[in-house]
Formats: sequence, structure tokens, C-alpha cells
Amino acid sequence: MKKFSISLVGGGSTYTPDMMEMLCLVKEKFPLKKITMYDVNAERQNVIGQYGEVLFREFYPELEEFVYTTDKEEAFTDIDFALVQIRQGGLAMREHDEKIPLKYGCVGQETCGAGGFAYGMRSIGAILDLIADIRKYSKEAWILNYSNPAAIVAEATKRVFPDDKKVIHICDMPISIMDIYTPLADGRTRHDVEPRYFGLNHFGWFTHLYDKKTGVDVLPIVRDRMLNDKNAAEELGFTGKNDDYWNFTFNHLFQMVKDFPQSLPNTYMQYYLYPRRMVEHSDISNTRYDEVKKGREKRVLEFCKEIGRRGTMKGTPYDLTVKYGNDDADNFQKATIAHNDAHATYIVELAMSIAGNLNEVFLIMTKNNGIIPNIDSEMMLEVACRVGANGAEGLNVGPIASFEKGLLENQYAYEKLTVDAAMEGSYQKALQALVLNRCVNDAETARKILNEFITVNGDYFPKLI
Ligand code: NAD
Ligand code: G6P
Ligand code: MN
Repeated sequence: MKKFSISLVGGGSTYTPDMMEMLCLVKEKFPLKKITMYDVNAERQNVIGQYGEVLFREFYPELEEFVYTTDKEEAFTDIDFALVQIRQGGLAMREHDEKIPLKYGCVGQETCGAGGFAYGMRSIGAILDLIADIRKYSKEAWILNYSNPAAIVAEATKRVFPDDKKVIHICDMPISIMDIYTPLADGRTRHDVEPRYFGLNHFGWFTHLYDKKTGVDVLPIVRDRMLNDKNAAEELGFTGKNDDYWNFTFNHLFQMVKDFPQSLPNTYMQYYLYPRRMVEHSDISNTRYDEVKKGREKRVLEFCKEIGRRGTMKGTPYDLTVKYGNDDADNFQKATIAHNDAHATYIVELAMSIAGNLNEVFLIMTKNNGIIPNIDSEMMLEVACRVGANGAEGLNVGPIASFEKGLLENQYAYEKLTVDAAMEGSYQKALQALVLNRCVNDAETARKILNEFITVNGDYFPKLI
């Protein structure tokens, strides 16, 4: 079997240790010869790189080479896959994205509403440059990207690299939703079902969950239990495992299903359908940024430092043979250093479906092109696709109803204007984008938020005239 070379871009990401662990767990099905980590911040990446050295030495002796670098040529030459997760501006800018809109009574969120707009303005240039850099050294590499805000980044990529079918933008939220709620269908797991879903990233709906063996759609079972069974949330057991933010969000989905029972919405719809409730629930002095700073970031970096200091994982609870035992099927789902079971699993599953031409179904971002005939054919849908060695092929959805169509068209107009604003340097289009966003709406408020964003983002923002 061919041995692949992978570059982990944004090597200092809090999610990188899980990806490295996952690559160890699948080494037989997806053998690698070289893993490279690349980041612009050497100091941050070194901490995770030193953990990687221990991990691979002890659990991936077959790996020929592991390096971490800030040199693009070294990182991107002769690679088969780049798994990308960068955060332009870092968590420091995320804090502003969340807190400035809240100051004006609007939703303050990483990827939704005005915060997602600001993150988009920073990310577009960074991701486009990165894709160009990777293409300079590896013309055929698959670029699998998690960096947010994925909808906006995907729209920008489509415009600048229209013929590059090897750049795929993905999100772990739909798959996390499946992981959490599918057990309501008589104990099935997400691997037992094949989803059908449509929308934009962080703005969509599951329409079907087909049992892989029988073809029966079990989404109605999940929905009926969410509507009628008071014990359903408790049975799912997400409380206790997650931070407050995620507990609230996963519980809130029950409310959304009650109000809109025709499908199973993405959890991120909470910001667009209940913006007032989401603002009321927020605390400007303790947003998700604060939770991540004190929680995941601290935990992951301390963990990596500790392993680096010890120089071994053997005999600790982190020893992979202790942590996972020999149960292969189970292992695949649970790299959990970041406490996000789906994240590493999903991107590695995607890479494996490409590498092995498995043609499995993934929810990814792709151009509409008639998948939904009654909306813009240019829209970057998040939708079920079969993915193999020739890339992603979207599965037909068919015409959609007025409610979802209206919401999507409005949101897509916002996303397009955001990309226009960044690429043309247009203040006016930035203002229009924010006014169209359901989480902002009011023009006077939009202008205040925009002006503050321009000030705090400095050179991270394109110059808006
Ligand atoms: P993080 O800030 O912990 O890590 C990001 C890393 O990227 C940092 O080490 C930073 O130095 C590096 N970086 C920034 N700009 C870079 C560039 N131009 N080139 C190379 N490296 C660069 O962030 P995180 O919380 O681990 O999240 C990483 C990214 O993944 C974010 O964009 C986040 O929104 C995204 N994410 C997406 C999904 C999804 O569903 N699509 C899920 C989780 C996280
Ligand atoms: C989910 C979403 C990502 C988002 C992340 C934020 O995984 O799909 O797009 O970046 O949540 O999580 P955090 O723990 O950083 O708030
Ligand atoms: Mn996402």
C-alpha cells in the first residue's frame, strides 16, 4: 500500500494532538511515511511538536520522518495531504469578535453574526495565501480545511481557485450532532446511518438519516424522541462531558426541533432563529473565548508540555494501549485530548476515503450546481457528497421550501458581500453585509460594530475604503 505524506497546517492548534493520535490509531489502514507540522508561531507549535516526538517515537515507529517547521517550502514540498486548521489573529481577536457585538446587544459568536464577519475578513486573505503556497510546492496535494469561518472561506476559495477540486472545506458540527443524537434511534451510532443534509456552513438542516443496512430513514425516530421523551437528553449523556456552552447548545436543539419539527437543524441555527435569547444568555465578561482560554487551550498545552517533559507516554494513562485497549472499532471514534471526539476522526476519515477511493458519504462544502435547483447555482452548499479518489460529488437534494430558501438566500447574500468587501476593500459592502446578517440587522448598530472592528483588527483587516 502507498505510504502518504501529510502536513498538519496550524500545527499549534489545540486540535493537532488529537489528529496526531488519530493518525497513530489508523496507521495500518492509512500508512504514512512523513508527518510535518507547519505554523507561523514556532513557540506555540514547538510545545505540540515535542509531544508529537514522544507520541510517534513510541506509537508510530514505522513513520520515517516527523518534523515541525515554520518554513513553507519544507512543509509543503511533496505532500499528499494538508490538513489545515489555522486561526488568523488567534484567540486574542476571537475575544473581540465575541465581545464587540455583545456590547451593542447583538450575538457575539466566533463564526455567526458580526463576529463571524470579522473573523471572515481576517481569514479570507490568510487562507487564499496558504492555498497558493501549498500549490506552489505540491500541485496535486489534497487540502482539507477546517479553518473558519468555513462558509466565507469556501466562497472566497471558489472564486480564486474555481477549478481546484482538491481543496475541500469541512466542518465537524454536523458530524458531532450525528454522534450525539443518532443513539436516540434505537441505539444506532453515526456510523450506522448515512445523512442527507443541506444548507450553508453553520446554517443548515438534516433531512434524513438512512440506516445503512435497511435504507430506512431513522431521522423521524430521533425527532419524535426529542419531541416527546422527557428523558432523551439525559439518556444522551452530553451533560457532564462538555463545557457549559456546549451543554446549553445541545439542550437548546430540543427547543429548536419543537419549533421547527420538519427537520433536524444544525445547532448553529440558534443564533439566527433566537438571537435575542442568545444575547440574553451571554455574559460579556465570560464568553466562549474565556471558556476556551481557561479550558481547552490551557488543558491541551499543559498536557503536551507534560508529555514533552516526561519524554514518554508509556505507563501513563495516556499510553495509547492503556487508553484504547485493543478494540479497534471503538478506537476510531475517540481521540479526546481536545474533548471534541468528532474533530480528528472526521478529517482523517475523509483523507482515508480519498486515499482508498472508498466513496463514502461526507457532509462537505461544494458548489450547488443544481443540487438544489431552486436556489443560486453558485452557492457553496454544505451537503452530502460521495468522496473518493476523484474528489467530492454532491448528492441531489431537490427543490427546497420557502422558509429554508428565504433564510439561505439572505445568509448567502451576507456571505457574498463579506467576500466582496474583503476582496474589493469596500466599506460600503462590509456595512451591507452586516445589515443583511440576521444577528445584526440594524444599520446604525452595524456601522458602530464595523467601525470598532476596523480599529481593533488593524492590519488583520483588508483596508476598507
Ligand atoms: P488555535 O488558535 O488554538 O490554533 C490555531 C493555530 O494556527 C495557531 O497555532 C496559530 O499560530 C496558527 N496560525 C495562525 N495563522 C496561521 C497561518 N497563516 N499559517 C499557519 N498557521 C497559522 O485555534 P483552534 O481553536 O485550535 O482552531 C483552529 C481553527 O480550526 C480555527 O479556524 C477554528 O475556527 C477551526 N475549527 C473549525 C472547525 C470546523 O468545524 N470547521 C472545528 C474546530 C475548529
Ligand atoms: C464546532 C464548530 C467549529 C467551531 C467550534 C468552536 O466544532 O463546528 O466550526 O470552530 O465548534 O468550538 P470552541 O470549543 O472553540 O468554541
Ligand atoms: Mn464548524
